[in-house]
Amino acid sequence: MLAKQLRQAYIDFFKRHGHAQIDSAPLVPENDPTVLFTTAGMHPLVPFLLGAKHPAGTRLVDYQKCVRTGDIDEVGDTTHLTFFEMLGNWSLGDYFKEEAIAMSHEFLTKELGIDPELLWVSCFAGDEDAPRDEEAAAIWMKQGIPAERIVFLGKEHNWWGPAGQTGPCGPDTEMFIELDKPSCGPDCGVACNCGKYVEIWNDVFMQYNKTENGTFEPLAQKNVDTGMGLERVTAVLQGKASCFETEIFSGLLQKLAEISGVEDPGATRSGRIVVEHMRAATFLMGDGVRPANVDQAYVLRRLIRRAIREARKLGVSEPFTPVLADVVVAEYGDVYTELAKNRDDILKSLADEEAQFAGALERGTREFCKLVDSFPAHVERKVISGRKAFYLYETFGFPLELTIEMAAEREFTVDTKGYEKAYAKHQQLSRAGAEQKFKGGLADSSDTTAALHTATHLLHAALRKILGGHVGQAGSNITADRLRFDFTHPAKVTAEERSQVQGLVNEAIQRDLPISFDEMSLEEARGSGAIALFDQKYGEKVRVYSIGDVSREVCGGPHAERTGALGAFRITKEESSSRGVRRIKAVLE
Ligand code: ALA
Repeated sequence: MLAKQLRQAYIDFFKRHGHAQIDSAPLVPENDPTVLFTTAGMHPLVPFLLGAKHPAGTRLVDYQKCVRTGDIDEVGDTTHLTFFEMLGNWSLGDYFKEEAIAMSHEFLTKELGIDPELLWVSCFAGDEDAPRDEEAAAIWMKQGIPAERIVFLGKEHNWWGPAGQTGPCGPDTEMFIELDKPSCGPDCGVACNCGKYVEIWNDVFMQYNKTENGTFEPLAQKNVDTGMGLERVTAVLQGKASCFETEIFSGLLQKLAEISGVEDPGATRSGRIVVEHMRAATFLMGDGVRPANVDQAYVLRRLIRRAIREARKLGVSEPFTPVLADVVVAEYGDVYTELAKNRDDILKSLADEEAQFAGALERGTREFCKLVDSFPAHVERKVISGRKAFYLYETFGFPLELTIEMAAEREFTVDTKGYEKAYAKHQQLSRAGAEQKFKGGLADSSDTTAALHTATHLLHAALRKILGGHVGQAGSNITADRLRFDFTHPAKVTAEERSQVQGLVNEAIQRDLPISFDEMSLEEARGSGAIALFDQKYGEKVRVYSIGDVSREVCGGPHAERTGALGAFRITKEESSSRGVRRIKAVLE
């Protein structure tokens, strides 16, 4: 069965069982600032799992594009993907364990034709938060799965969620296929990742809400949330060792073979990284993300740059990212129409990013080689100093992880602590520089500047609300009489959006909201939902400024005490700053 057919079979099956099909949500969460990406099908459905009424009813089905970056460094082996599609069905307070398990069993054995003898399942073993799931196990037995193929495991295996810091979660039951290969030893089982048992589906019984203080409260409604990884199950159904051997990647790999002259790039780690990352990057760009240095935009930049570097290893020296992105658009554009719609802009933006990085990469690699070659041969611990690593970052845009990777290839390590120190010192210097400038140029109008700076926070929050979570700060500049704010956004801000944004800022001003700050680590700041620069180092204390319930942002600048002091906010200009970055100028009157 091809991936396309599996996707359709899943949707059709659940539609026949009374489910309404809903659209795949964007990869950048629309209503959850605590995470960068949509990581599961349930993510966009959180409000409905918590009890809000979904307009399409209580039984839903979809295929959802997902990005998980926790695995970014493992991509290149045969199983990890940063981008994947998740097939899912939901009961919002409708059916529960009995029907969910019966439908899962029927779909696997009847629709997909999987031999029931090869199915294993795991259920939650129970702990202080929730009881052992004997109920699920009994239902599986009723479906014909014998007790010896039902395994009970703890929270680390059989509990799912919440997707962010808080929210719906619960015990789950997972389904596995036993492959026809030797087990790795007497302890081998479904929890083992030797590859003998492949997890194919997860039914989560979402009946708890994890609160901010870490407790699990029963939800008013009992939900079912399921997830099946399309790529992985396609490979299993085709008897392939990995999804890189299926048609999902064959078009991309074929194109890469043509470009690189490498006969079978899918057999190489570099080849797999290139096609995987280019697929992920194209999907992110389809949702309006453009490469830059913060948040989602930074992850995108890392994906593209890593793909370019790996392609170099395969001997590719000409620009290629638009060519591969075009393959993705051609293959997925009918199902994910945003790809087809934004094709030209995606290709152009990739070409720009590739040209920019290619130049820096060449110069930086030369510099790196000089550095490594100049190392005295007799020194045993070959370490690249933090200062040097930071120099590569600052001058050539080499992310630390790239330097580490290149160093490892030459059997060098990198002094990451030293890098962090150099980074922090640089920040202090630039902060001091900024403060200096600030004092110099604006000494006699500091209230005005504080007001304009505060308005910048409100503007940033309003833009994210009206245009979407992909909006990130790309630059900010304040003079005595105006603010200027650059932000990532793929299109011109329409007159209507502009007036909505302006309206939101003025509303916050009229509410005369208090402004306060807390000090915390960057990690805590992110956890609390604050907007922050992505590549700042963890551990450092940062200040998080809150403006009522409207904005939370990591910042060091001067702020007004209440929004009421700001006056009327007016956008005077909206224009392009560079590709994918817009610029707004505004005043307080
Ligand atoms: N939300 C569950 C998962 O991602 C189904 O596995």
